[in-house]
Amino acid sequence: MNDGATVRVELGSRAYDVVVGPGLLARGGELLAPLLRRPEVVVVTDRNLERQGHLARLQQALAAGGIAQQSVVLPPGEATKSMAQLDELLDRILALGIERSTAIVALGGGVIGDLAGFAAAILLRGLDLVQIPTTLLAQVDSAIGGKTGINSRHGKNLIGAFHQPRLVLADAEVLATLPPRELRAGYAEVVKYGLIDRPDFFAWLEAEGHRVLAAEPAALARAVVESCRAKAAVVAADEREGGARALLNLGHTFAHALERVTGYGDELLHGEAVACGLVLAFALSVRLGLCPQTDLERVRRHIAAAGLPASRRAIRAEGFATDALLEAFAHDKKVEGGQPRFVLVRGIGRAFTGATVEPAALRDLLDAPDP
Ligand code: GLY
Repeated sequence: MNDGATVRVELGSRAYDVVVGPGLLARGGELLAPLLRRPEVVVVTDRNLERQGHLARLQQALAAGGIAQQSVVLPPGEATKSMAQLDELLDRILALGIERSTAIVALGGGVIGDLAGFAAAILLRGLDLVQIPTTLLAQVDSAIGGKTGINSRHGKNLIGAFHQPRLVLADAEVLATLPPRELRAGYAEVVKYGLIDRPDFFAWLEAEGHRVLAAEPAALARAVVESCRAKAAVVAADEREGGARALLNLGHTFAHALERVTGYGDELLHGEAVACGLVLAFALSVRLGLCPQTDLERVRRHIAAAGLPASRRAIRAEGFATDALLEAFAHDKKVEGGQPRFVLVRGIGRAFTGATVEPAALRDLLDAPDP
């Protein structure tokens, strides 16, 4: 497992590989060359990745593979996922004199992957895209499955398109330079896959998750590969989120509300919000009589042991106003008929969609002192 693995996302004529393993950036030229319509790419990345030398490593590898490349380096951070930065990015890429056979390579975390992916979806009515995710969260979630887009002042990810990549390269070595907080935040999405339908994987994380969080290569590779397999299976079954893909939103309705009230800033990273949202989804399911209390306790314990917020008070000691959270649910893009949608659970590894939750039950949960 130390060497990683290749996971296939089965989407017929648009199927692609997610390659997981060490040293993939350095093999970028060799891995991309067979897929390109013309040996020419535009790499989109951010200043942090440039500073850490990852862009230079990829550029060297592309040159060694005979691939001509130009790059666009953007400011890091969530604010880059904006209409203004998209406009700027499109303009800069068009100024490079691209053709329909030019491919876009997104080298970065979720922000770069979503923004550059969206640019690839709409430039010249669609360019080939390669995702090279550099955060744990992007490797196990956002780089796989073709969701691309930007934020609006009305909410996160409200403008976007489905645009599947031709290849995803998840280089395990790049994760070694991640700040521990970023690694922990990505770990929440790893835990999510265990909680949705992989109880054995969750049990493995309970035993070995500390090794994943310590970035031990073998444990980290196993966690990434298992997560990519889980994500690939869901995307292959339901690419456009007509049904099963909605399971991936476990914990996310709560998470989006928490992110909204904390202002999408440094107080709470997306993965941290997801961690708390997972606990809240289990707590809601227990209140509705769907899930054993013991499973909620296991989830709460594991999230806390990972150094992630297992309750709202772990985010903000004075708590959050129930009305502010209820108001925030209304802005979620998954609202249907004015009602927020929740993924609920019958236990660990037994998530399901389609349940309606009475506003009173939600208010009771949010009024409770904990979680
Ligand atoms: N991150 C949720 C999805 O890809 O559907």
